[in-house]
Amino acid sequence: MTDFLLDTYARFPILASRGKGAILWDEQGKEYLDFLSGIAVTNLGHCHEKLIKIVTEQAKTLWHVSNFFHLKKQEELAEKLVSSAFPGKVFFGNSGAEANEGALKLARKHTREHFSPTKTKTVSFSGSFHGRTFWALSVTGKDRFGEKFSPLVGGHKVLPYNSIQDLEKINTDVSSVIVELIQGERGVYPADAEWIASLRKRCDEVGAVLIFDEVQTGIGRTGTMWAFEHFNIQPDILTFAKALGNGFPIGGFLASKNIGGIIWTG
Ligand SMILES: Cc1ncc(COP(=O)(O)O)c(C=O)c1O
Repeated sequence: MTDFLLDTYARFPILASRGKGAILWDEQGKEYLDFLSGIAVTNLGHCHEKLIKIVTEQAKTLWHVSNFFHLKKQEELAEKLVSSAFPGKVFFGNSGAEANEGALKLARKHTREHFSPTKTKTVSFSGSFHGRTFWALSVTGKDRFGEKFSPLVGGHKVLPYNSIQDLEKINTDVSSVIVELIQGERGVYPADAEWIASLRKRCDEVGAVLIFDEVQTGIGRTGTMWAFEHFNIQPDILTFAKALGNGFPIGGFLASKNIGGIIWTG
């Protein structure tokens, strides 16, 4: 408990000092059952033996090179993610917010180039949370996160979650629609299967890129590798982070083949 950290969060009065599996200990050795799991991050628990081994080996081998180099492990992970979801291309960043930010950018580039330079708008849903970087914050449907930082990124509309009739408001100037299949910010709110099917249909009708934010629901959190498997509906871009690294900072997105092919690599 220090005066040197910015007060961005109301923290618990617990100094977390050690963890193993689902158990967390404070400095005095008091034991806690860690139901929070880093907010859907530590899916494999704290200090998992296999992860310790892998991270230690990598730290002794190579820490960092710029993206100008190829990395075998990075390519293997991308391939695994593709085979777990659908054909496409993967982008890696460090967090869920960056994953969503990247997905929104790729979608905008796609719709500007393939449809019209004015097809740039974004849509999300009431109660959603998509991260704290500027665009991710701007498309977050829960006001309290963004209100103190206005003006946010414009050209955005928030529609009611699970309302089929409101999907008509997604029109042809919309570049992308971002949605969580289960919202987790104000309780636990699953999307209706019929609504998700209608959303997919509407995005196809107006040429909008459909982004599933699986930062929280992905990587086995709902019993399948991805929550979209429960709905039998595929997005154009799938974003992930959190449990992918079990606490190691990694996130990214998978863009389906027709969208992932357009990014400039010069
Ligand atoms: C659905 C969803 N999207 C995005 C984010 C942002 O992820 P990160 O905190 O890794 O930037 C979160 C974080 O809670 C989330 O739950």
